[in-house]
Amino acid sequence: MKIFAHRGASRYAPENTLPAFELAYELGADGIELDVQLTKDLVPVIIHDENIRRTTNGTGFVQNYTLEELQEFDAGYWFSKHYLHTPIMSLKEFFQWVQDKDLLVNIELKTNVIEYPTIERRVMDLILEYNMIHRTIISSFNPYTIQRVRDLNSDIELAWLTKIQVRKIDQYLKELGANTIHIKSRLLSSKMVKCLLDQQIPFRVYTVNRVSLGRKCVTMEADGLFTDIPDIMKVKTQ
Ligand code: G3P
Ligand code: MG
Repeated sequence: MKIFAHRGASRYAPENTLPAFELAYELGADGIELDVQLTKDLVPVIIHDENIRRTTNGTGFVQNYTLEELQEFDAGYWFSKHYLHTPIMSLKEFFQWVQDKDLLVNIELKTNVIEYPTIERRVMDLILEYNMIHRTIISSFNPYTIQRVRDLNSDIELAWLTKIQVRKIDQYLKELGANTIHIKSRLLSSKMVKCLLDQQIPFRVYTVNRVSLGRKCVTMEADGLFTDIPDIMKVKTQ
């Protein structure tokens, strides 16, 4: 089972920043999950919230700043003074860092609150530019984003993210063009898992920070899980 570092190794370093990604790699994660939004000048950037208030020393919406303006803010100090002067990272910078590393990448497109027209195409263009299609998964809570990505590219692995139960899940995923599903851990039921396994649809579970839950994911034959503590999950679920 693959261990994805959720927003990087986000228990130990500021989420969605280079230090969190570097740490995830050093700690032996199989992959990195990160969240992407779009700047005012239409650049995909790595940040979880639509507003920069929680994870930087600034305030306001990502979509109201250019990349250059956003990178003036500090995305590390809120976590610990050790991470003073950590900038927000663009997706392009992330690909430049990850391309020579043996890591899977899960890009979560954060279009569930703000639509960010063209984000799907801009992200897909970067994946192709950096030749990352074979080890990148795009995911989103927004079914329209999944459909738009599938219309752009028939090969990329696409995962629909869900925190709700859906009837006939296999049919729904097929309609969206999704290959896989990322499920909130409290939704995991043996009935749902049986349906997915019967249809040979891989599933991954978020956010798993308890070892007992990690072991349950192994038993349920999950393809992977997302965790803030990739080092512990890696060791305890093998
Ligand atoms: O992709 C799994 C997980 O990251 C989804 O929730 O809010 O942590 O982005 P969130
Ligand atoms: Mg996420």
